[in-house]
Amino acid sequence: MGFKEWLEAPAKGVATTSSPRMNMLRGALARITTPLLPDDYLHLANPLWSARELRGQIVEVRAETADSATLVIKPGWGFHFDYQPGQYVGIGLLVDGKWHWRSYSLTSAPVHADKTIAITVKAMPEGFLSSHIVGGVEPGTIVRLAAPQGNFALPEPLPEKILFLTAGSGVTPIMSMLRAMDRRGAVTDVVHVHSAPTEADAMFRDELQDLASRHDSLRLHLQLTRSMGKFNLDELDTVCPDWRERQAWVCGPGGMLEAVEARWTQEDIADNLHLERFAVDRSGQDGDGGTVTFAKTDRSVEIDGATTLLEAGEKAGVQMPFGCRMGICQTCVVPLEKGAVRDLRNGKLHEEGSRIQTCISTAAGDCTLGL
Ligand SMILES: Cc1cc2nc3c(=O)[nH]c(=O)nc-3n(C[C@H](O)[C@H](O)[C@H](O)COP(=O)(O)OP(=O)(O)OC[C@H]3O[C@@H](n4cnc5c(N)ncnc54)[C@H](O)[C@@H]3O)c2cc1C
Ligand code: FES
Repeated sequence: MGFKEWLEAPAKGVATTSSPRMNMLRGALARITTPLLPDDYLHLANPLWSARELRGQIVEVRAETADSATLVIKPGWGFHFDYQPGQYVGIGLLVDGKWHWRSYSLTSAPVHADKTIAITVKAMPEGFLSSHIVGGVEPGTIVRLAAPQGNFALPEPLPEKILFLTAGSGVTPIMSMLRAMDRRGAVTDVVHVHSAPTEADAMFRDELQDLASRHDSLRLHLQLTRSMGKFNLDELDTVCPDWRERQAWVCGPGGMLEAVEARWTQEDIADNLHLERFAVDRSGQDGDGGTVTFAKTDRSVEIDGATTLLEAGEKAGVQMPFGCRMGICQTCVVPLEKGAVRDLRNGKLHEEGSRIQTCISTAAGDCTLGL
């Protein structure tokens, strides 16, 4: 291997980014400083510099409603601000000595002059990390980041007519889209129907109303469900009579997404529909649980039949590949070398020799993964 190929080849344990030049620089740093880890040097200079992973520092925590908060994060070396509005990032927080990863839609518009990004988190009842974040994560905290990704994004050029249908925290990816359109001064014909229990519960209420008042082409319908009842899809004919002609971006609770999917299919306009799910439908049967062995890293961990193999690996300290953490992106696919695993969404059993998605699979007895 020539020097150039050696420099450009992926370095073991070093996270890659979408930029080949950045990968080369990170890989080269890792090699040149081996056997000492490059992070040992970089961390001394700045905790945000890492050749191995994307990091960020929380610079502001802002309450949005009683149970939601925006985190403004300054990403470190290697982060690209050319994400598409609507995409999400992976974020890892260290709580009680363990890293916990979740996905959050970016609420900021891309290419922020101050080089920060924002996510907005709603505390879920009994939700571990969302409650921790909303309950008082401190500015200054260092977080780990996974690069922005996802197909729930606005295309270029923008469609002439858009419908945004959101409920609760489902407004977050749409906020990034609206902010991006506003920033570019290019708000096309948009109807936004957003549901929240009360005015006080509606995230970004003031900003949404301000945007609608500043752009004639943007109409906002705020459905306050406690006083007005749930938004019935039949009401679209009144609120947005040409909804069948619009490209629709929809994000909200699972029940709402199912109803929308069924309605758009029934109307034969499913091609116009873009959906974002925040949670996996775990309606399949749980696995049996068992001991999960990670062959290459020689680690093992025992899990119950509701814990995913991805969570198992993270628990065991294995560097697990992942993206969406909900069965969409395929980033987490690994070979199943021995045993069987079960898909938590539909109960389907996968036997040894297959390639499986760790984020939505659990152990069906003892099993070994090629990691
Ligand atoms: C692409 C994407 C984008 C997202 N964007 C956002 C966003 O912008 N804002 C936002 O607030 N969230 C967003 N989410 C959701 C977010 O990733 C987390 O899932 C959410 O914050 C809950 O995490 P948690 O740790 O608090 O909950 P967890 O502790 O993981 O639990 C989640 C929920 O499941 C329940 N639960 C936990 N374990 C079990 C079990 N074994 N059986 C049954 N129920 C269980 C809990 O009671 C809780 O209600 C997004 C998710 C995805 C996939
Ligand atoms: S992490 Fe995206 S499919 Fe598993």
